[in-house]
Amino acid sequence: MAITLTIANEKGGVGKTTTAVNLAAGLALALGADPTSGGRVLLVDMDPQGHALLAVGYEQWQAPAPQSLVALLTETPPPSPQRMLRQASHHANLFFLPSNRDGMVEAARTLPTLMANETRLARALAGLQKDFDFIIIDTPPNTGDLLVNALVAADSVIIPVETSYLGVSGLRELQRTIEQVRAHFRPQLGVFGYLPTLVEEVRAEAQEIMTELEKRYPRQVLPPIHKSSDLAYAHSSHMDIFTYRPPRQRSPGQLSSSSRASQEYARLVELVLAAARRKK
Ligand SMILES: Nc1ncnc2c1ncn2[C@@H]1O[C@H](COP(=O)(O)OP(=O)(O)OP(=O)(O)O)[C@@H](O)[C@H]1O
Ligand SMILES: [Mg+2]
Repeated sequence: MAITLTIANEKGGVGKTTTAVNLAAGLALALGADPTSGGRVLLVDMDPQGHALLAVGYEQWQAPAPQSLVALLTETPPPSPQRMLRQASHHANLFFLPSNRDGMVEAARTLPTLMANETRLARALAGLQKDFDFIIIDTPPNTGDLLVNALVAADSVIIPVETSYLGVSGLRELQRTIEQVRAHFRPQLGVFGYLPTLVEEVRAEAQEIMTELEKRYPRQVLPPIHKSSDLAYAHSSHMDIFTYRPPRQRSPGQLSSSSRASQEYARLVELVLAAARRKK
């Protein structure tokens, strides 16, 4: 059975996609270090913009709607997801489902009119559970059926929080959505943690905001991700941080390099792996 983590926050530009891409790539690298494990990771991009897929499958992330995630969400019965899987550019054990930008926009519009509209992704991914160790799902910056599907399919949620006053106070709607999903579909849905992102040490209020986050969500705040131009450059080069800033010589299982962003996302990967080991 795969462990499914959804990266969500209805606020835009808080680092959801950056987190989804780097967590998925880091997990693939870590699992790939042990050739006996045969560990595989799947990245699912529920954002019609497809930004996460640009980093793992540039120029091959779109497919005709009937052969993409769109069909898994909208067709009855849905096609087989196995045949859709594509291998990521930089990691042999990282896979993704191709998307279709216009088709996903249309799917977001039509899902509310379809039966079982909240559980369609979960059902499609059920057929892939045995093939993957981890499934990482990126989500769009708004409430709607695409987000709800991503939550219904998840074991737990990672919530990137931009460390500003607005970022900390703007989580009510997401919490309400998570409560609704628990009440109606998935009582076991957990929050893996709140991930402070885009942290700027030089800003005087940074520490104050971290303290406020800790106060609101005791023991649920993950080690922060600082603002780093490496992350932005990696994404515009269609790469994850571990590919963009690799260590000089990679010893098996080693993810991080001299780039602080790679060290910080490597730490998140370790925490997810540790939680997975505890679950087994
Ligand atoms: N820690 C960071 N340091 C510097 N730049 C970052 C960091 N995290 C994300 N970015 C950049 O900030 C922008 C927004 O990040 P990202 O796309 O990950 O956010 P998002 O929450 O997925 O946005 P959206 O809601 O639009 O999907 C991107 O240009 C990304 O490269
Ligand atoms: Mg995004």
